[in-house]
Amino acid sequence: MLPKISKIQELKENQTTAFLIDNTNQLESVSLTDSEKKYVEEKLKEEQEASLFRYPNIIFFHKEKDAKKYLQTEAARKAGAAFFDNLKKEKIKSVQISRFGKKHLTLPFLEGLLLSDYSFSKYKKKKDDNAPDEILIADNAVSEEQIEELVKITEAVFHSRNLINEPLSYLTAKKYSEEMEKMGNEAGFKVEVFNKKKIESLRMGGLLAVNKGSIDPPTFSILEWNPENAKNKKPIVLVGKGVVYDTGGLSLKPTPKSMDYMKSDMGGAAVVASAIYAIAKNKLPVHVIGLVPATDNRPDGNAYVPGDIITMYDGTTVEIRNTDAEGRLLLADALSYAKKYKPELVIDLATLTGSAPMIAAHHALIAMGNNEDSLQKLKQTGEETFERLVEVPLWEEFGKPLKSSVADLNNLGAREGQTSIAGKFLEHFTDYPWLHLDIAGVAFLHEKDSYRPEGGTGFGTRLLYHFLKKFN
Ligand code: BES
Ligand code: ZN
Ligand code: ZN
Repeated sequence: MLPKISKIQELKENQTTAFLIDNTNQLESVSLTDSEKKYVEEKLKEEQEASLFRYPNIIFFHKEKDAKKYLQTEAARKAGAAFFDNLKKEKIKSVQISRFGKKHLTLPFLEGLLLSDYSFSKYKKKKDDNAPDEILIADNAVSEEQIEELVKITEAVFHSRNLINEPLSYLTAKKYSEEMEKMGNEAGFKVEVFNKKKIESLRMGGLLAVNKGSIDPPTFSILEWNPENAKNKKPIVLVGKGVVYDTGGLSLKPTPKSMDYMKSDMGGAAVVASAIYAIAKNKLPVHVIGLVPATDNRPDGNAYVPGDIITMYDGTTVEIRNTDAEGRLLLADALSYAKKYKPELVIDLATLTGSAPMIAAHHALIAMGNNEDSLQKLKQTGEETFERLVEVPLWEEFGKPLKSSVADLNNLGAREGQTSIAGKFLEHFTDYPWLHLDIAGVAFLHEKDSYRPEGGTGFGTRLLYHFLKKFN
């Protein structure tokens, strides 16, 4: 449960407080002893943060970074996260936030604090309950509406983190579609789920091929938020890779640092669902559709094999060369399906290639596509939300390794340039403005990084929400 957040006019005395300042002269307004003041001044010369422990309270200072605006904003988020870690350690339940510096810092500070207040403790006997339960905001520049919006976005991010952290023993494809139905009921968007029979009748050959080795049926879920006041005439379609577990299939992955992380291979779908959740909860005037093909990828008696030739939903034939390149197969079917909406823009998100983290580690997703304008806008939003992106090309040359002598395409390509090659494979199934976001490096962390926890991060939810909020 997130803490209760209220606005206050005046600061309380003897309370844990965070002061956001842009210069140390502002310390005059804080009642500090001479030695405390000296300590804070010295500390803030070198660093952005200083903490005074005045048992049972903490006085925390964050000095604005002298940098570009989006970097200042991110420094404020990180300070909020550092403050949260202090609070948790000291089991402090109620805190207040006060601003002397520039107006745009309080909200990101609060955002970093809230995004830190997450743990996946469903399967633990001992739940962790040391987080604060009350936050008081003494800043007139922050409105109740902004706080409400932030809380809803944060809850959406937590939904995607939970989905990513759920193991296959709980989150099968069917369960996944049910979880999205629950989210739809909560936030007010529509969810329709195609079962295996329906998927077979539609001949979604990519999704069905990957599912052949599984004892659990696949699902194809359609999420839709279409408010009366939608600004766009044609919908925006979000497509998410929903591989609930990727063993690699018969092209089996090794376990350490590979298969052992693969419950996160539905991270793209989780972000699609949580972005639509945030949009619906905040009633944004935008028509969005989410498409989520879901299955696990496993070896079994009937599993698809290298050498197979499959026919996709749009009739394209694909020679399978590696069963571990499965994501593109089910995404391709969903991308072909998206054509029926005559979309204004399609964005797919997928933990698609192991080469994506080789490019930008966990610092950025890898983006490519055929629509320069949306890509530039997304890049801008990426800086503002600090869910950044790095662009790679989709040159014609990347299509060459995907040729096949027995089918229209092969699903492997080559090792070098794999992130672009996989994008090139997807491009074949699009005929509309489209962006592909490879989130393999950012969806799941092996250790905590400030307000991003270990495990599922939800990276992409805030990016899509703010991008679509500005969309017109
Ligand atoms: N799900 C993996 C990609 C992945 C790797 C995601 C590491 C997150 C972390 C994907 O299905 C895959 O196995 N891709 C292969 C493709 C290759 C066989 C062409 C890869 O990138 O190694
Ligand atoms: Zn794979
Ligand atoms: Zn995969």
